[in-house]
Amino acid sequence: MTAPPRSVRAAAAAALALAALGALGATGAAAQAGSGLELPPDPLGGRVLFAAKGCAQCHGIAGRGRSIGPNLGEGHFSGSFLELGASLWNHVPGMSVTFDVAGLPWPELEEGEMTELLAFLYFIEYLGRPGVAAAGQEVFADQGCAFCHEIGAGEGIGPDLAGLERFASPLYVAQEIWNHGPRMLASMRELGMRAPSFAEGDLADLAAYVRQQAEGGAQERLLLAPGDPNRGHEVFAAKGCSKCHGRDARGGEDAPDLSQVDLHRSAEGIAATMWNHGLVMGDFMRERGVGWPIFEDSELADLIAYLFFLPFADLPGDPARGAEVFASRSCADCHAAGELAAGGAAEKGPRLAGSTAAASPAALMAAMWNHAPMMKTAILGEALPWPELAGADLRDLRAFLGRQAAAAAPPP
Ligand code: HEC
Ligand code: HEC
Ligand code: HEC
Ligand code: HEC
Repeated sequence: MTAPPRSVRAAAAAALALAALGALGATGAAAQAGSGLELPPDPLGGRVLFAAKGCAQCHGIAGRGRSIGPNLGEGHFSGSFLELGASLWNHVPGMSVTFDVAGLPWPELEEGEMTELLAFLYFIEYLGRPGVAAAGQEVFADQGCAFCHEIGAGEGIGPDLAGLERFASPLYVAQEIWNHGPRMLASMRELGMRAPSFAEGDLADLAAYVRQQAEGGAQERLLLAPGDPNRGHEVFAAKGCSKCHGRDARGGEDAPDLSQVDLHRSAEGIAATMWNHGLVMGDFMRERGVGWPIFEDSELADLIAYLFFLPFADLPGDPARGAEVFASRSCADCHAAGELAAGGAAEKGPRLAGSTAAASPAALMAAMWNHAPMMKTAILGEALPWPELAGADLRDLRAFLGRQAAAAAPPP
């Protein structure tokens, strides 16, 4: 099976992102449990901000668009919110030079906007690549589907799959396969067939093949319901996943912590993972008396969006390490922060102890971004190197600033 060239996949992914924009407009957000992160109900909504804030003037998405700045999307970002934030921060000097050259103002970002933008950049991977019908035909044969199913030529051991064609999304196909899983597996067991398992891309290819067979030609229509991660959290509880994996998917008795599993993949790739584990899970479910969950409408898409965003939420940071970062990255040279003020900080920047700048991950990122041009002038003016941040740095910094803020608060 050959994958289509990257540029084709990229362009198509961008087209998907744009096509899915039609589905904008939802409002309200729920917190990603425990992390202080409010996820947007429509992760593609940030596309609008990306244009409105001028990012699109310099950055292409997934291979399309301008290329003054690096192309974003397509496996670019896989870290948590604050890890992505750190990467944005590290590029401030390079980016602001191009802003100056282009005569563009530095775009101010509010807290919610920062979340929407980074969630959007993170989400691009979710769209995956469009399926390739010829590859889908191979999957259909190799995985034994063809043994039991026809497409548009009547019922075999299993139903004719032509009806699936109405629903262009690979997630819809995945949902149907999942819902019929137990009976399909029973029928395979009877015939002594091995259960099918899917690799990344297989479900997208299968969906493309089904569509092509049913309609007799390649179709342009590729509408992937983006999925609402907040609603997906509810689905996770309602379908009993939380019984084994814990309320926030952080692991439970005998079931893995799903935030530690590599789920930052395309949506159909996550669906494939779920299916592949379905056999083992099914036995556990029977033991625990949890029925095989059946998904309707956009439920699987929502659930998968929720799983996809699990690694996006930052774990609590380590304030002691944050204090080291604060000192070693020269923040303490300009900002007083409680105990470090005693060290004689010159207060060339605002006091960060007691400030609300670290109230949430998004608040911290927005504050750092909005003040970045002034800070850049101050930092480079003192001939200090730009304080690069990596990995858990920002998470730990926030924990440290949060502790200082608590200490600075007047006693009740
Ligand atoms: C005037 C052009 C310009 C605009 C507008 C712009 N950027 Fe950039 N951006 C750049 C350049 C140039 C770099 C590379 C800087 C460097 O290498 O340090 C960059 C780097 C980045 C990076 C790091 C990419 C990587 O490879 O890790 C991110 C993320 C980013 N920009 C996001 C944004 C966002 C979000 C916006 C809108 C708020 C934006 N940019 C607006 C020019 C721009
Ligand atoms: C051993 C026979 C067998 C094999 C092999 C098989 N299926 Fe099925 N499939 C069935 C049966 C039987 C049903 C109906 C189950 C039910 O009614 O719940 C079904 C149902 C389905 C449905 C739901 C169809 C609908 O109209 O509701 C889909 C989608 C599907 N199969 C896809 C696949 C795919 C894709 C493969 C290959 C990976 C596959 N099946 C392999 C027997 C099989
Ligand atoms: C009865 C307990 C139980 C229930 C209910 C359950 N799971 Fe699981 N799940 C497990 C176990 C055990 C594993 C590990 C199986 C394995 O290693 O193959 C697992 C594995 C997984 C994996 C793969 C993790 C990896 O390592 O790649 C995913 C994804 C997953 N579950 C999602 C879900 C979702 C979504 C639901 C609800 C629709 C759910 N699970 C319901 C017990 C359960
Ligand atoms: C050379 C001096 C200097 C250094 C070093 C410096 N800053 Fe700043 N910082 C400033 C100045 C000046 C401002 C105010 C900018 C403005 O008003 O736009 C500021 C503003 C901020 C704000 C916004 C405060 C608020 O109340 O909204 C945050 C957050 C911040 N800095 C964090 C940091 C962190 C974290 C570091 C270390 C990685 C750091 N700064 C390093 C000078 C500095």
